[in-house]
Amino acid sequence: MAGLVCSFFGCSTDGIEGSYDYELYFEEDDPSNGTLKIENVNGNYKGSLISFQLGKIELEGLNIIDNELSGSFKKWGMDMQLQGTFNGDKFEGRILIDDEEVPFYATRQTTEYEEIDRSGIKYILPDNDLQETELNIDHAGIIEELDEDALDRGARIYNSNCINCHGNEDIEGSIPLSVKFWEQPFKAGGDPFSMYQTITRGFGAMPPQLTMTPQEKYDVITYIREEFVRPSNKDQYYKLSPGYVASLPEGTSRGLSQDRIIPGQIRIMVISL
Ligand code: HEC
Repeated sequence: MAGLVCSFFGCSTDGIEGSYDYELYFEEDDPSNGTLKIENVNGNYKGSLISFQLGKIELEGLNIIDNELSGSFKKWGMDMQLQGTFNGDKFEGRILIDDEEVPFYATRQTTEYEEIDRSGIKYILPDNDLQETELNIDHAGIIEELDEDALDRGARIYNSNCINCHGNEDIEGSIPLSVKFWEQPFKAGGDPFSMYQTITRGFGAMPPQLTMTPQEKYDVITYIREEFVRPSNKDQYYKLSPGYVASLPEGTSRGLSQDRIIPGQIRIMVISL
């Protein structure tokens, strides 16, 4: 039970709701990242953890009193408890699993959003060459709906469709021009929607990937961001914010599904080298 809880120090829980980026240390030096979301629904707090490791988890028995939060969840067959304290835009806490304690830190996501100008980017496919199914995609829905298998699916796609040209940290790609995501800057934007445009329309020597579904594209984008960019190329990592997600073109469709390639469209096949 929560609401606006007032104490000696004032009404401190007002404004706790929002989205926070968290880091969680199951292993020292190797943070798992995700979002802690606190919503206030008719005076009651609801909380969830959203990440690639955990998927989306609703916190049960969520209690926020003054600035103290506690709530629990089940994962991998274990009971876990999240506890901690909000302090301004920060949250400092821990996850308790039996008698183990895993440090958990979170920072409020910025609401500031700087518009991204893509008008100068010369994609290979212009708007009117895009498949019709590309025009009404629910980008925000796909980006926000993280699930715990996205990274695995993305890895499979990367290792079959992209690695030839792009390589990885151990294997040199076959086309030297291909961006090395772990050390080079993006020329056409490293936020998910810009990468989506690069993959869908092609850019420079990067061919458009006409047979991939929107979900597959965002899966491989997730993989590139989380496997290469975040750990090794940190200043190229684009942090998602509510303003960014709200800026994406609205749509209602999840687009082309794998077995429905529209006939009559040109299909540019990936050159195998
Ligand atoms: C035929 C070789 C080839 C394949 C296959 C390929 N790429 Fe590329 N990619 C390139 C090249 C070359 C560039 C650099 C383009 C340029 O800067 O002119 C590039 C650039 C990119 C960029 C970044 C553009 C920027 O902002 O600088 C992204 C993102 C990207 N590729 C994603 C992918 C993904 C995801 C796949 C697999 C689904 C893939 N590529 C498959 C050759 C390829």
